[in-house]
Amino acid sequence: MSIVELARENVRNLTPYQSARRLGGNGDVWLNANEYPTPVEFQLTAQTLNRYPECQPKLVIERYAQYAGVKPEQVLVSRGADEGIELLIRAFCEPGKDAVLYCPPTYGMYSVSAETIGVECRTVQAIDGWQLDLPAIAEKLVGVKVVFVCSPNNPTGQLINPQDIRVLLEMTRGKAIVVADEAYIEFCPQATLAGWLEEYPNLVVLRTLSKAFALAGLRCGFTLANEEIIGLLLKVIAPYPLSTPVADIAAQALSPQGIVAMRERVAEILVNRQFLIAELEKLACVEEVFGSETNYVLARITTSSAVFKSLWDQGIILRDQNKQPTLSNCLRITVGTREECQRVIDALQEQPGLAATE
Ligand SMILES: Cc1ncc(COP(=O)(O)O)c(C=O)c1O
Repeated sequence: MSIVELARENVRNLTPYQSARRLGGNGDVWLNANEYPTPVEFQLTAQTLNRYPECQPKLVIERYAQYAGVKPEQVLVSRGADEGIELLIRAFCEPGKDAVLYCPPTYGMYSVSAETIGVECRTVQAIDGWQLDLPAIAEKLVGVKVVFVCSPNNPTGQLINPQDIRVLLEMTRGKAIVVADEAYIEFCPQATLAGWLEEYPNLVVLRTLSKAFALAGLRCGFTLANEEIIGLLLKVIAPYPLSTPVADIAAQALSPQGIVAMRERVAEILVNRQFLIAELEKLACVEEVFGSETNYVLARITTSSAVFKSLWDQGIILRDQNKQPTLSNCLRITVGTREECQRVIDALQEQPGLAATE
């Protein structure tokens, strides 16, 4: 038997997540991973590494709890929100028996994690403005243990109607966990569902330092939930999920000054987003620009694949969403610096003959 044949069948059949870094590219304008465009400086204060780190660093947990308005017992810190997704599936879904449910087009890691673990992925296409199709979800819930709702949604950028999430939470009470993925919530903080945790024992909220906190390279995310759920996740998490330098920097990012700096970054991105949307709307090759509550903008562009390639060749790396259901000809553009937004606009303006090919 070959080595590959020795591997689990679902791993052999798996299409890995096409992360921005895996897709490569030779750019100088990176607008394909919804990162913050410029680095933020940190000094390491923890200088010794001979001891193992705390599994759940106390200062990081306390600061995040305070920032999110929950109790420290309701917070789990992990290697990015992606690890939170995986832990939830591992803790709640029996491989080969239970299922997860999500509503495409949405974030790709729900399916990749479920498939890796051997858990069925059930999908219900989003409807009208990429909202939840509640009757179709209700019909497909048998055997589902975890429902992922990304709000604001990646890659479409809009919030999921909170009233629909309430209906979903009621529908799944005692049967399944509803995971609200709030990776981009800092760009629309009023929309968080963290305040609903007391009311719904089956609600989980995912957060990250990768976006508004400008720390994608740190790999640090949070799961907010009631104590019972956090207790279960603590059973399956690795003994030392965060290295000492990660915990050190995360605690600084969550200090009062760190949070003020994050809010300033968000304000700057929101101004740039407004600029980017207004300029995109003026372009002949842009058919539609979708509203966004996040640090990225989805736009439908004439001959989008050719445009994507042309910008790629000029070092401007966007994210092609063309293959996702309902997103034909759509490109996702991260809101970068003002100069980066301008580079995108200039490059799109120069696309030859696009209006003529319509
Ligand atoms: C919707 C969504 N959830 C989760 C993540 C993963 O975040 P992290 O970098 O914390 O693993 C991302 C990253 O792009 C995302 O877009």
